[in-house]
Amino acid sequence: MSTVTASSSQEHRITVRSLAGRKRKGRPITMLTAYDFTFARIFDAAGIELLLVGDSLGNVVQGCETTLPVTLDEVIYHTRLVARGASRALVIGDMPFGSYQVSPEDALRSAIRLVKEGGAHAVKLEGGCKAAASIERIVSADIPVMGHVGLTPQSVHKLGGFKVQGREEHAAQEMITAARELENAGADTILLECVPNAVGAAIRDAVRVPVIGIGAGPGVDGQILVLYDVLGITQGRTPRFVKNFAKDRDSPLDALRAYVRAVKDRSYPAPEHCFTE
Ligand code: KIV
Repeated sequence: MSTVTASSSQEHRITVRSLAGRKRKGRPITMLTAYDFTFARIFDAAGIELLLVGDSLGNVVQGCETTLPVTLDEVIYHTRLVARGASRALVIGDMPFGSYQVSPEDALRSAIRLVKEGGAHAVKLEGGCKAAASIERIVSADIPVMGHVGLTPQSVHKLGGFKVQGREEHAAQEMITAARELENAGADTILLECVPNAVGAAIRDAVRVPVIGIGAGPGVDGQILVLYDVLGITQGRTPRFVKNFAKDRDSPLDALRAYVRAVKDRSYPAPEHCFTE
């Protein structure tokens, strides 16, 4: 009896398998960052499909300048809160700096903690080709993985700031190669951050798995934004790709429904949110 109950609670859950189908059918995927129980409930009501418990919590919740100080325990804590509220969305726990760079074994240990203690359904880690070995190790334990290429905020000091990536031909080619390598390593989806529109579309075409963009233009398979940006409560500089969906709307739920509609009908991102070169 308890088995029946447990499986029926999973009946309507978005899965990485259903996401691949959405890409094939050309149906845009909606994703947002999430940090707590109440918003996870509201996201489900709004129809958001993927929730990322992002290490951006270091910026928007903790007030840090970068995501580098965020710990695995902190992401696990927030993932647990989100997983408790989300009954339909797929919950992805972000692997913070230091939780996967030392070795693939370390990466697997961290991913297992996110699933076991946080209740994540999948994990995300940053990096191009050098993340492939860790991805391979994590998927060997049947944990779904989202790769992350383009602007990778954990590399901010190496990149020299939060800048658009892939503007030069050779850098764009390297990124396409990296995306293919992550797919071959077993990544189920790829997050693509801050690249010109043409690079976004080229990476979408280069891989079979869904590519979810943030500042990657309209040519990808889905969009993600940081929750606080969508609600228009960003502190400090607002990136070009951000749109305040709460403007002239009465509630967070209305704002999030407007975001879902705009992604689905492809009116977001508009040209003013994009990097064209
Ligand atoms: O941590 C985060 O919020 C991210 C963003 C790029 C969505 O990775």
